[in-house]
Amino acid sequence: MIDFKVNRQSCTLCGECITDCPSRIISFGEDGYPTITAEKEGTCYRCQHCLAICPTGAVSILGHHASFSHLLKGALPDPDALETLIRGRRSVRRFKQENLDPVLFQRLLDVAWQAPTGVNSRQVRFTVLDSHDKVALLRDEVMAGLTRLVNNNALPDGMGFFANFVSIWEKHRSDVIFRDAPHLLIASAPHSVASPMQDCMIALASFDLFAQANGVGTLWNGLAKWAMNEILPETRHRLGIPADHHFGYAMVFGKPAVHYARTVQHGPALIYRALEGEASEAPAL
Ligand SMILES: Cc1cc2nc3c(=O)[nH]c(=O)nc-3n(C[C@H](O)[C@H](O)[C@H](O)COP(=O)(O)O)c2cc1C
Repeated sequence: MIDFKVNRQSCTLCGECITDCPSRIISFGEDGYPTITAEKEGTCYRCQHCLAICPTGAVSILGHHASFSHLLKGALPDPDALETLIRGRRSVRRFKQENLDPVLFQRLLDVAWQAPTGVNSRQVRFTVLDSHDKVALLRDEVMAGLTRLVNNNALPDGMGFFANFVSIWEKHRSDVIFRDAPHLLIASAPHSVASPMQDCMIALASFDLFAQANGVGTLWNGLAKWAMNEILPETRHRLGIPADHHFGYAMVFGKPAVHYARTVQHGPALIYRALEGEASEAPAL
């Protein structure tokens, strides 16, 4: 039951919800208003485009009413500011050892979860450690596991460099893997969905930018992913990541103990203009 409703007082019969529906399941009903017949409900993507596009907020679906949506007009970020955010986002490897405000923590996750998913599957799961103590506990367990493997000469092929991190930890108590961050985020998604890897990465990329826009430092963390997923896969179970999930990626985050003054200057972008000069020469069909 997708609960598609149209407010007859505010619907202008513009038909935009009908035209924009990717499943093309909305049509004008016998009463003259947009409707979804019971037999077509099953092919609804649950994308809510009908709710989003309605100029008068007349459409509600899946129990969601337009009045709870954010209005877009005049509220989108200034492109120059967004450009500076993208150019100025940095990998943060020094964190304050304090937990984020729980309201901000929750908001970052809620907003990142809005990211698109293939076929709108919406199955990305955020596994989080919400305190510095928990990350430190995990770090200690991972380091103990890595130490055991190093001592037994049992690190997997290609992962021998983890011995350096164990050595640095033993000598200096310097945490090269988790960077002594107060929080950890892992995105995972069921293997069964259309695009689990992409869904996780897009959610994390959204998290990354929104976190940094809020003054929160982030670090994409391939080392933590390798340690938890490939070298010590029992860590997955320990963290409650379902066995049938693709381990998307890991990210540590928290209040930065470092502030960058300016953007870096990568580029020029690698751009290859394919079919240059060919499209106009294509034979007419
Ligand atoms: C997929 C991915 C995995 C990464 N894994 C690590 C990591 O395990 N440890 C680390 O210190 N940095 C890691 N980084 C950060 C990169 O080294 C960093 O993005 C790059 O040096 C550029 O710096 P910037 O992010 O500040 O622009 C990772 C970045 C990406 C995109």
